[in-house]
Amino acid sequence: MTEVPGAHVARALTAKGELLDPAWHRAVLAVPREAFIPDTVWVRTRRAGHTVFAPYPRTDSDVSRWIHQDYALMTQVDDGEPAGPDGTGIVPTSSLSQPSLVVAMLQALDVADGERVLEIGTGTGYNLALLCERLGDDRVVSIEVDPGVAEQARRTLGELGYKPVILTGDGASGAPDHGPFDHVLATVGAKRLPPAWLEQVRPGGRVVVPWGPGFTSAALLRLVTDEGGRAHGRLLQDAAFMWLREQRRTVDSWRDHIDEDAPAGTTAGTTTLNPRVAADPDPGWGVVVGHLVPELVAHVAEAAADTEAAGEATVRLYDRAGSWAIGEYSPADTSYEVLRSGPRDLWAEVASARAVWEAAGRPGRDRLGVTVHPDGRQEVWVDAPENVLGV
Ligand SMILES: C[S@@+](CC[C@H](N)C(=O)[O-])C[C@H]1O[C@@H](n2cnc3c(N)ncnc32)[C@H](O)[C@@H]1O
Repeated sequence: MTEVPGAHVARALTAKGELLDPAWHRAVLAVPREAFIPDTVWVRTRRAGHTVFAPYPRTDSDVSRWIHQDYALMTQVDDGEPAGPDGTGIVPTSSLSQPSLVVAMLQALDVADGERVLEIGTGTGYNLALLCERLGDDRVVSIEVDPGVAEQARRTLGELGYKPVILTGDGASGAPDHGPFDHVLATVGAKRLPPAWLEQVRPGGRVVVPWGPGFTSAALLRLVTDEGGRAHGRLLQDAAFMWLREQRRTVDSWRDHIDEDAPAGTTAGTTTLNPRVAADPDPGWGVVVGHLVPELVAHVAEAAADTEAAGEATVRLYDRAGSWAIGEYSPADTSYEVLRSGPRDLWAEVASARAVWEAAGRPGRDRLGVTVHPDGRQEVWVDAPENVLGV
């Protein structure tokens, strides 16, 4: 008997309790995920102390195994021009997303038969094939910024008998000639939601997107649009995705932005705020500080554990626009030396954000939600849209 195309993936997801909706279960069973692997996939590895992505042919036995498991596979690096040493890549720029996340996003969209969906970030087309199975080819439109990736997706989908509209272009503009839609699903992360996505969804429709201010990786945001053109919704779970091409950053280091050996123009002082809290790993704090202190980046250098300085740390904050601050943490201190430079007092901004988060009862990410206004303005709130966090 021939095997059901998506049997392995469906089994992996049902075993984890991830695939709950029978209609999406049928769609996953119908789509052969292995058909979406391009000739080369890119696997994270270490070379000479750096993380790079090494090419693996699709026929590699590891790739054949991974495709049936709950893993994302990187399918393009550096926008198609591998920029690392010896043919390796530095930044993954397209992928075949992790099946459990794909299904979580589709289920969060909560579609009904006959509804129309706009997908942003076609990638390999796997997610789009699932949408075609669930809603029909004529009910889904997808946009991919990379012409080569879009072409490959059209080919793969065509070979499997799916014929959805795949536009090549910047998904931030949506697809005005094909809207309005019942829902928008972005399979690429956004720090700022493009207003076109809200405009092109009917009131009561959903916008599901990996979202985050960029301080940490994205979380899955499920927005519902209202009659006033706004959208409100909760953060659901981790959803580490690559960012929209125009919102992503080049890979850099704190050394590109901080020159701590050139103290001209710097201001020295002290703070009672423990410098370590800037990089507190609490996901709720990550959202709040990233939102309230735009463009913030934090780097923590721990003292070696086998030295007298064990437990001490140097915390560097910067914004890539000329402002930076350094705080020295020592377990014995209650006030800490800080040095800063540039127009923004990042230390004071982080301290204010921390005070807001503490006053709200240190909400975890599961208590946080987001409102997006028609002009693109974003608010983060606790428990309900009226409890907006602000400094
Ligand atoms: C994580 S992949 C999408 C995975 C895909 N849905 C799948 O099932 O394989 C993200 C894709 O978004 C695309 N992308 C990035 N910025 C974009 C933009 N501004 N407009 C449209 N697509 C974009 C990338 O080129 C990449 O192919």
